[in-house]
Amino acid sequence: MVVTAQHLATNVGLQILKQGGNAIDAAVAVGYALAVVHPCCGNIGGGGLMLIHRANGKNIFINFREKAPAKLQRDMLIHNNKVDNKKILFGYLGSGVPGTVKGLNLALKKYGTMPLKIVMQPAIRLAQHGYKLTAGDVKFLGKFTDVFRQHMNVAKIFLKSGKPYKVGQILLQSELAHTLSLIAQHGSRAFYRGNIAKQMIKAIQAHGGVMTMKDLADYRAKITKPVVCHYRGYKVMSSPPPGSGTTLCEMLSILNAYPLSKMGFHSAESIHYNIEAMRYAFADRNHYLGDPAFVDNPAKKLLSPQYIKIIRQQIKANKAGNSRALLKKHLLQESPNTTHYSIVDQYGNAVAVTYTLNSFFGNKRIPGNTGFFMNDELDDFTIIPGKSNQFHLIQGKANLLAPGKQPLSSMSPTIIMKNNKLFMVVGTPGGSTIITQILEVIENVIDFHMNIAEAVAAPRYHMQWLPDKVYIEPHAFSKEVIKQLEKMGYKIHVGLASGEKRWGAVMAIKRNLKTGEYSGAADPRRPAGAARGY
Ligand code: DON
Repeated sequence: MVVTAQHLATNVGLQILKQGGNAIDAAVAVGYALAVVHPCCGNIGGGGLMLIHRANGKNIFINFREKAPAKLQRDMLIHNNKVDNKKILFGYLGSGVPGTVKGLNLALKKYGTMPLKIVMQPAIRLAQHGYKLTAGDVKFLGKFTDVFRQHMNVAKIFLKSGKPYKVGQILLQSELAHTLSLIAQHGSRAFYRGNIAKQMIKAIQAHGGVMTMKDLADYRAKITKPVVCHYRGYKVMSSPPPGSGTTLCEMLSILNAYPLSKMGFHSAESIHYNIEAMRYAFADRNHYLGDPAFVDNPAKKLLSPQYIKIIRQQIKANKAGNSRALLKKHLLQESPNTTHYSIVDQYGNAVAVTYTLNSFFGNKRIPGNTGFFMNDELDDFTIIPGKSNQFHLIQGKANLLAPGKQPLSSMSPTIIMKNNKLFMVVGTPGGSTIITQILEVIENVIDFHMNIAEAVAAPRYHMQWLPDKVYIEPHAFSKEVIKQLEKMGYKIHVGLASGEKRWGAVMAIKRNLKTGEYSGAADPRRPAGAARGY
């Protein structure tokens, strides 16, 4: 089964599985295909995180997150004591060294069975021959017409005679097809050392960026182990830093002691404990976590039963906590547009991938004639401690921008096991809401016994420590429940701080533990997506 945010990419994955490829072959094919058919988010100019459960029982995490260039300094992104958002979100100074090509190719080489040329073929065809746009595709392409118009090489591909694309029209990307075929022929070298690298660096340096050929040549994707925790008898495996699986695990560990199922789905009581778990875990995330190559992440401590118990002791029944107060006496202080897809195969392997350009279409620039968008991932760093980024996250020193460092991510591709058998594969985009979305989908299945489609579709809520508010999708809670929550001291806000009313695009697979049958769900919030199996 393959679940992605774009139906044609889903078909690509399925085709690879039908040819006898494994879930890793399919994941690499889908990774390249989404760069073509979901250009807002699928990418080769960004980075991401991949979690693999192999049929032989081994679990692997691949970190192919972007890195800050060696010559980038924080003050280059600060103007008059403020973060220069124009530079970081729309210029090349906000671009990290891309990791996607190295990450996908490493996964294929280590755990795949097919040659790169074969798995990249469908993506190259989709770029070369084009594909018909659906309403779900046009929704994203039509959002940035003014920005696309500012760059000739972007406008000529992503606008149709200067106007936004319409449903039914064909999007051709011959330059991207050329770039992809160079990678298919020559592997990662083509992207990190060859002509594509030269074009990238030329465009970046011509527009104020500081990335060099050496930054590209030095980039490595890293293989490590997933972070693991247990929730009501299920083993949850997710992404260690720079991902946010530790934070997801912290929330689950706090919640493990509360009978959410008895309290009821979206009852004031179950929401209360969830919000408090979110508050404490986000406070820790934003204080302590960062690139493991630079920061000693206290993950063990954050997930230890003693520490989780201390948090539970602070949570009062029927009373909202206070994020600012938490800031002052922070518990540990004395001691030291993105897309997700999920794939399972006929052999017992499972893959969860979340990868991103950060904002929709990244910095909205294409280097030269390469046909791909560059990321604006470095906005995920703390640029000025205490000042928020585009996801309104207030983060600390552990995530401070430094040359060669990876910004902390909220991405948390997750795989859940029960008695050593695969149970769920899940992940989503959505900036800081990624972690709480995954938490809620897991609860919807495990505590509230929903099927996977219901669990993914159910309205969401979110709290991220600061701002000290509870963000909800329209009609997520009944009026009665809102009143009860307000009485406890919560400030409820419909929509996110950014104004978005609904969020996320969860792509999930669940296995029936009795029959072994898979069911998949593509989030209706991203309507071009599809869950398909055979
Ligand atoms: O890595 C992160 O946490 C962000 N760059 C993810 C951005 C994202 O999910 C945007 N999608 N809607």
